[in-house]
Amino acid sequence: MELKERNILVTGGGGYGVGEGVCNALISFGARLIVNEINEEKAKIARGKYPGCIVVTADIRKQAELENMFLYLEKEVGVIHGLVNNAGVGLSKPAHEASKEEFDGLYDVDIRGVWMVSKLFVRQLLQNNTNGNIVNVSSVHAHATMPRYAIYASAKSAVEGLTRGMAIELGKYNIRVNAIAPGYVHAEQNYALISTWTDNPKQWVQDYIENEQAIPIAIQAIDCGNAAAFLLSDLSKSITGQTLCVDNGDTIKLVGSLSK
Ligand SMILES: NC(=O)c1ccc[n+]([C@@H]2O[C@H](COP(=O)([O-])OP(=O)(O)OC[C@H]3O[C@@H](n4cnc5c(N)ncnc54)[C@H](O)[C@@H]3O)[C@@H](O)[C@H]2O)c1
Repeated sequence: MELKERNILVTGGGGYGVGEGVCNALISFGARLIVNEINEEKAKIARGKYPGCIVVTADIRKQAELENMFLYLEKEVGVIHGLVNNAGVGLSKPAHEASKEEFDGLYDVDIRGVWMVSKLFVRQLLQNNTNGNIVNVSSVHAHATMPRYAIYASAKSAVEGLTRGMAIELGKYNIRVNAIAPGYVHAEQNYALISTWTDNPKQWVQDYIENEQAIPIAIQAIDCGNAAAFLLSDLSKSITGQTLCVDNGDTIKLVGSLSK
């Protein structure tokens, strides 16, 4: 699998979760990594983690910032061949309790932002008469969800709908659009969120891995990165509009602990 001489942009690539795995995988397969982050503080973290990569700040909710980002990248690297829409935010609240602001806050990043970055990415491909590739980071929540995740699940389902629709629209230009749907990918930062529904987040994570997944082993961020790299590479040249679940068999299980 080779991604040499491909300029690949990863949104929210300064994070410590899935994005880190995607960035590490892209570097290992020889891509020229471009990381987008929301602000200078996060960008600094990315520069420290991925020496030599190009880091650009832009809030994916803001059209003008995105336009400036693509103008800057055009001058710096020329055409961008691949895009990983990784930036995302979560919300853990029942749909009937969430406010309009919370709903909009999630949708602005998780679906509207994904569409806006994709749009500008595709336009620069078409202007340069170049084929290319989008990988959207969805979630297992688009396929099966749990209490408090209805709004997140709905946004990720929209991401998969966008994936299929854009794949159909762009196939004639040989631009492919796919998604990965990670299961639970552990990062220390997740404990804060999990603590909102359990007193023992470490045990909850352990139980989840052992009971809910067919393979009772923690999913690593690099597993998601390798799947994204495959979808960005020519090895997947006949695959478009698809979602690859990177979930150790989480979504194929009918029941959790009762099935042991
Ligand atoms: N961690 C998991 O278990 C898991 C599972 C399934 C899917 N995902 C998805 O993976 C992606 C990465 O999430 P993560 O859990 O690794 O979290 P993370 O917080 O480490 O990564 C998200 C990154 O996106 C950036 N970001 C947020 N809003 C932004 C904006 N408006 N503009 C630019 N950047 C922005 C953040 O600064 C952060 O670095 C998300 O799309 C998430 O929904 C994560």
